[in-house]
Amino acid sequence: MNAGIIGLGRCIPNRVVTNADLEKMMDTSDEWIRTRTGIEERRIASDEHNSSHLAFEAAKNAIANAGISADQIGLILVATVTPDRPFPSVACMIQDQLGAHNAAAMDLSAACAGFMYGLVTAKQFIESNTYDYVLVVGVEKLSKITNWEDRNTAVLFGDGACAAVMGKVSENLGILSFELGADGSGGKHLFQNDAGHIEMNGREVFKFAVRQMGESALNVIEKAGYNKEDVDFLIPHQANIRIMESARQRLGLPEEKMSTAIKKYGNTSSASIGNALIEELEAGKIHDGDLLVLVGFGGGLTWGAVAMRWGK
Ligand code: ACO
Repeated sequence: MNAGIIGLGRCIPNRVVTNADLEKMMDTSDEWIRTRTGIEERRIASDEHNSSHLAFEAAKNAIANAGISADQIGLILVATVTPDRPFPSVACMIQDQLGAHNAAAMDLSAACAGFMYGLVTAKQFIESNTYDYVLVVGVEKLSKITNWEDRNTAVLFGDGACAAVMGKVSENLGILSFELGADGSGGKHLFQNDAGHIEMNGREVFKFAVRQMGESALNVIEKAGYNKEDVDFLIPHQANIRIMESARQRLGLPEEKMSTAIKKYGNTSSASIGNALIEELEAGKIHDGDLLVLVGFGGGLTWGAVAMRWGK
């Protein structure tokens, strides 16, 4: 019996910031941002909405979508690098707001691979029969750690939250294989600096990401006992369209079989993969029985991938 996603929800801030808006704030251009990153616009949360607010809304939607009640959840995992504060965790804050009184709760930090780390951790607790349901949330308010004077990073990021209720699914569905990894020696390429801002060596991260996304995707396909030709849809971390394209090409998939939600949302770190999954489900591009590959990388450096057969 595999663990799988039985409910999804998200919270996307209303405020849209376009590339044209950024042109007015810094020395950049719509043309540069589109061609170098694939981003057209991103969402930015309002001052009064912190990560816990976005996480709560996404979690509430996912629980409703799963058709369970909050007190059936055994564990809440919130992947984030932008918690409201170091403690209490966002997971504890939303545990109370949701009324998930029976749930243990903790945040986990794996940057843009955080949602993958959350899904895989949830899988262990479900398949060991420890918990019936685990709530996994990916949430970021990256706008609060963005240096709006640094055009190298400011154009890349956005805010948002996604949530998945994980539970047992029918035979041959759910998460079939996974890979998680880390290379702490690369932490210097992408980190929160002493001023509290995102600092990044874009070229180093780019090289790492191109290599890792392709490799991890191929590894989970093989571990699941499939070939790349069997893959129906690819959901890569939405960091840069050129990195995503290289992963797609390594899998030999046509353009229409990869999510490009990055256009509308930019890089929302822990929220990116779950949000892209919801975007494509809502667009009718993913169907029950499809073989999906979800793959991410992030600061740490970290990476994670799953092969998943969609459905309950
Ligand atoms: N607008 C205009 N020009 C810019 C901008 C901008 N916003 N940003 C950089 N430039 C300039 C640079 O200053 C440079 O100019 P120079 O040649 O005069 O020095 C030029 O554009 C080219 O810069 P590069 O760094 O070579 O540009 P590149 O093609 O590598 O793209 C980018 C930069 C988009 C950051 C790319 O390296 C990238 O996407 N890297 C990966 C980043 C990433 O995925 N981060 C994920 C973070 S995940 C997490 O955990 C948060």
